Amino acid sequence: MQSARSTIRKSSTTDAAGVASCASCTSSRRQKISSDAPWDKSIELCRESRVAATLALSEYIPTKPPFPGEKFDLIYAFSVFTHLSARSGKAVMEACRASIADNGLMAITIRPQSYWEIHDQKQNIVDVKAMHRDHMEKGFAYTPHGREPIDGDITYGDTSMTLDYIKENWKGWSVAGVEFNLQDAYQVIVFLRPVQSGD
Ligand SMILES: C[S@@+](CC[C@H](N)C(=O)[O-])C[C@H]1O[C@@H](n2cnc3c(N)ncnc32)[C@H](O)[C@@H]1O
Repeated sequence: MQSARSTIRKSSTTDAAGVASCASCTSSRRQKISSDAPWDKSIELCRESRVAATLALSEYIPTKPPFPGEKFDLIYAFSVFTHLSARSGKAVMEACRASIADNGLMAITIRPQSYWEIHDQKQNIVDVKAMHRDHMEKGFAYTPHGREPIDGDITYGDTSMTLDYIKENWKGWSVAGVEFNLQDAYQVIVFLRPVQSGD
């Protein structure tokens, strides 16, 4: 990532709570950091803590990018797609696709199938067998948390997915690489590049 670091001018995180780690990995003054999250509490906390970023509240199932017209060299989301429903995740990726520079990079984390073995049932009860089956058969397994639905969809819960699922369902993106995550073995880092129409 060393070479990418020197060329990043504008970065964005799809989650306000992730700004601190983004800010610490970048140092150029020419960088502009933007952040969005659907939880107004996250935005509020960032404002209170004077996080040096342009902040915006996004939608749970976005219909438009949170920073319309802006293009970002780097968009990252740590521990976000590990929680989103299929519908919400697809909509967020479409909003990010509209916001990424042509040669931009997106970094996200996803959970592997093995996550279901260590899932904390005290936090959220899941049918582990069903999650393994869905992951293997559909490439995507999800159990919603006990939250209010947004337009009929509980957008937040616990999620695992495969790279094949990403390739088949997130149009306009290609998987550029995968890294093990030393901070959390149950979150795999996936790098994505925008695919130009005609590629
Ligand atoms: C487990 S927290 C991760 C926080 C932080 N990135 C970290 O690693 O500590 C999940 C985050 O997902 C964000 N989130 C929830 N629903 C979302 C959505 N539909 N679109 C984008 N972000 C969402 C929330 O803002 C929340 O902070």
